[in-house]
Amino acid sequence: METVLSGIRPTGRLHLGNYFGALKNFVRMQHEARCFFFIADYHSLTTHPDPVGLHENVKNVLAEYLAAGLDPDVATIYVQSDVPQVAELALLFSMHAYVGELERTVSFKEKIRKQPDNINAGLLNYPVLQAADILQHRADKVPVGKDQEQHLEMTRVYARRFNSFYGVDYFKEPTAYNFGTELVKVPGLDGTGKMGKSEGNGLYLSDSDDVIRKKVMRAVSDSGPTEPCQPMAEPIENLFTLLKIVSEPAVVQHFTDSYNKCEIRYGEMKKQLAEDIIKVVAPIRERIEQIRGDEKYLQKVTSEGAARARESSAATLADVRRIMGIKRF
Ligand code: TRP
Repeated sequence: METVLSGIRPTGRLHLGNYFGALKNFVRMQHEARCFFFIADYHSLTTHPDPVGLHENVKNVLAEYLAAGLDPDVATIYVQSDVPQVAELALLFSMHAYVGELERTVSFKEKIRKQPDNINAGLLNYPVLQAADILQHRADKVPVGKDQEQHLEMTRVYARRFNSFYGVDYFKEPTAYNFGTELVKVPGLDGTGKMGKSEGNGLYLSDSDDVIRKKVMRAVSDSGPTEPCQPMAEPIENLFTLLKIVSEPAVVQHFTDSYNKCEIRYGEMKKQLAEDIIKVVAPIRERIEQIRGDEKYLQKVTSEGAARARESSAATLADVRRIMGIKRF
């Protein structure tokens, strides 16, 4: 059975892009592979050190994972910092990570531009810790977005370098996995680009029905087609993309036809879109609230997940220490 692993930083609530672009596929994959899904709280400290908010953020993402359908009896769901072995593994990997290559990483360059007053070593070492996340469980596939492909490439480099330096065939090289044709790209509501955490164009799984209605009604559109079957401008295309994701095919057909006949009323389409989004989000939101309030359950899920993850991680760490020549007296 293949091993699948993915992590998410607890730096904000999950949106529809996370849900349709990733979580829904995780839910499906948990039955097809040995899966690890974790909350990367160590990684969040490179950009968002926040002792007051951190735990709440971890709790929110955890509740959102579970509410979306990840099953802790099937997949291993854990919090990164509950598995301290990963920190030791990252330390050991850092001995074979070159500062030059870390400095050239796109995500590092972007982050130091965004936070010039906090260019911390954790930020530089970010890809090393991510490699340790992945390699500790010997993952085969890592479902991540495009922005993470370089980190995956670095993980492969570290795996290869370890093997060749120590003359072993220990780590296999994991691959970034983007779900192929099943990948759903969810656009934002601001007319261009995809839905993102920092873009301010998102619909969140925790949004109330009214908030969803307001956001959708305010979504960017245009003044409407003037010629039959006119090509759609990006903001309109995006609304149709959202409609295709959440609405019945007949509904999509209806609005496509009325667009093509220049009869479309965007207000009507947005109303329908909002209601269809609510149909998806409302039940998830209710489960999030219920799960968030159940401290006992969250405690059980995280402690069981951590125990399983630690077992898998500790086995890898013991091998790595042995291969590197660390011996106990
Ligand atoms: N860097 C990832 C992100 O920002 C989060 C992450 C941390 C991750 N460790 C990982 C993703 C391991 C996949 C595998 O999205």
